[in-house]
Amino acid sequence: MSLVGMKDLLSRAEKGKYAVGSFSIANMEMIMGAIKAGEELKSPMILQIAEVRLNHTPLCLIGPMMIAAAKNAKVPVSVHLDHGITIERIKEALEIGFTSVMIDGSKHTLKENMKLTKEVISEAKKYNADVEAEIGRVGGSEDGSENLSALCTGVNEAKEFYAQTSVDALAVAIGNAHGVYLEKPELNFDILDKINKSVEVPLVLHGGTGISEDDFRKCISLGIRKINIATATFASVEENVRRLYEQSQKVDYFELHQAEIEGAYLNVKRHMLIFGSQNKA
Ligand code: 13P
Repeated sequence: MSLVGMKDLLSRAEKGKYAVGSFSIANMEMIMGAIKAGEELKSPMILQIAEVRLNHTPLCLIGPMMIAAAKNAKVPVSVHLDHGITIERIKEALEIGFTSVMIDGSKHTLKENMKLTKEVISEAKKYNADVEAEIGRVGGSEDGSENLSALCTGVNEAKEFYAQTSVDALAVAIGNAHGVYLEKPELNFDILDKINKSVEVPLVLHGGTGISEDDFRKCISLGIRKINIATATFASVEENVRRLYEQSQKVDYFELHQAEIEGAYLNVKRHMLIFGSQNKA
């Protein structure tokens, strides 16, 4: 039984100077693969799903499954709503038992973003759940439906936002983007360093797919404590399934099921090793 809060996982990561992977999942097989990697490496982890993905994967089905998987895991697992947009969905996730929610107010003005974040914090408090917010703007979009240009987080904005909200985790925009990077990402470590020195809140890096191992390590050394990975895991599942079909014409359903689990497992494990979260459970 190890469903735990995100804040707790991130404060332990801060003490140990590593990052916790927040892995997007879309079905039971991906949940099983992610948990398998965490248990094998004795790594804490966050299972997450973004609001836009709920069109494919209904929250009322996947949510209770994520919670059950966390409770049955041999390692600490947090269950998180990624990129929450509407208060209705956020409340639904909290009601199911998610231990944290993100409110993505990054499209709004700083003032509106703070107001929205405070509203979500007071809702989450009723469930003893934690809240992540985002300022600046991470490029692309979670499901590729929009191509938003990135806007770097301002240091003063971050200070003001945290002073006003005391949010539990803060996603920063430092040149990172969701989905596949068309060009090599150029992260602004100088801004990250300044934000890290100015606000005492665990920082979150979105758009993990395509960031190099060196850049991940540098981000972790500059205060990133939660790293979101989505596209790379979906791609790993798809590749693993494709490999199975290339090897044989006729595939049994349960081989397909196993290939999906393995695809998720391989990518989650690779990232946990980079993030330094192994043996931290
Ligand atoms: P990627 O799809 O680039 O890994 O981004 C994941 C993410 O940030 C989810 O919020």
